[in-house]
Amino acid sequence: MTNNFAVLGLQWGDEGKGKIVNFLSDRANAACRYQGGHNAGHTLIINGEKIVLHLLPSSICHEKALSLIGKGVVISCDALFEEIEKIEPIAKNIHERLKISPACSLIQPYHILVDQLKEKSNSFNTIGTTLRGIGPAYEDKVARRAIRIIDTLSESKLEDKLKENISYYNFWLENYFGHTKLDFQKIKDENLHYGEKLTPLLADVSSLINGLNDQGKRVLFEGAQGALLDVDQGTYPFVTSSNCSPAGIASGAGIGPLDVGYILGVVKAYVTRVGEGPMPTEIHDSIGAEIATKGGEVGATTGRPRRCGWFDAVTVKRIIKSNSVSALCLTKIDVLDFLDTIKICVGYDFKNGSGDYAECMDLVDVEPKYIECKGWQTSLKGINEFDLLPPEAKAFVKKIEEVCELPVDVISTGPDDHGTIVLNEEI
Ligand code: IMP
Repeated sequence: MTNNFAVLGLQWGDEGKGKIVNFLSDRANAACRYQGGHNAGHTLIINGEKIVLHLLPSSICHEKALSLIGKGVVISCDALFEEIEKIEPIAKNIHERLKISPACSLIQPYHILVDQLKEKSNSFNTIGTTLRGIGPAYEDKVARRAIRIIDTLSESKLEDKLKENISYYNFWLENYFGHTKLDFQKIKDENLHYGEKLTPLLADVSSLINGLNDQGKRVLFEGAQGALLDVDQGTYPFVTSSNCSPAGIASGAGIGPLDVGYILGVVKAYVTRVGEGPMPTEIHDSIGAEIATKGGEVGATTGRPRRCGWFDAVTVKRIIKSNSVSALCLTKIDVLDFLDTIKICVGYDFKNGSGDYAECMDLVDVEPKYIECKGWQTSLKGINEFDLLPPEAKAFVKKIEEVCELPVDVISTGPDDHGTIVLNEEI
């Protein structure tokens, strides 16, 4: 058994994972992203400065930690090198500390194009994707035609694979969307250029993790999005295209399923969602709008407003049970400072027999059942000791533990590291 650990969102993303991963990366020798792509937006506040990471692991600012990108991630080279350039002034030795698996699939310009055309087209259901080409890139991976980083290292191999892809996409683009043909040479040149740029960063990430573990070192796995957006466990079809629940760690990082000793599930004290899809506890009145304003609920990647709702213990508990989550990290509790009553959804009334199909996560024919907690109506911002919380806030935390049947090991009371209460020092 290793002492690796993981930090993942248990809702629809944007739970505040970036801050927690950055805070905990001191306790790890490396952090690893293993799924998703630059659809993620992890916000960190370092020395008062706001930093949003999309592809790089949140450990990138810790000069002693390795930052790993495992084979389950789909990479946009434009986005990766833009992010490296932006972060370089504050993150030391990036080129020595960042290691990327050559087995990662690459997001190509035609993936972005198709993602955008599909979202605009009336013939497809709109998901409200981030328009970053994530879905089409994963489609190619599953269809076994993806261009992986390794393919960009040999011109002849790249040419063969790209020819097949471009003729497939050209047919689709022309006949389905009436779009002009792709420029093969331009796309090939870009891939070769990025292959060269990537070469010094490549490593066998899976073996690297095993080697670190053999030396007794610890790796932190950083989930992107949230488990309710997981393609298998989330609210399908309104999901992303990867396994962002803990189940994705082993395949995406290339480790054994038993090689994660502790899984910290991050949940916001309320819930948010960007894009389309069901959200049973959505608040449609001014309280929802005020939570959105106070919580700064605007997408870190797309700038889209996030929908807000009450904490939904039903969905969180389902994810906990099916993913061996060890404990919870409760974030943004300070956003609820202004409320006199806070609701928690503890059950659903399933209509039209939909309870029999609960595993499908349709969540359309459900009526949430709530309990109410008394609000604290005082500022929690920056509190870093549990004993300093007002009794109503302590009771709220205890209620979350009770309804989720899991301990809360970390509480976040503000965007920077100072506002963090660690209740389990063994993490
Ligand atoms: P895609 O991942 O761009 O394909 O988008 C699919 C769905 O996942 C959309 O509803 C997006 O809004 C949502 N999504 C993707 N990444 C994130 C994220 O990092 N936070 C929250 N929602 C996300």
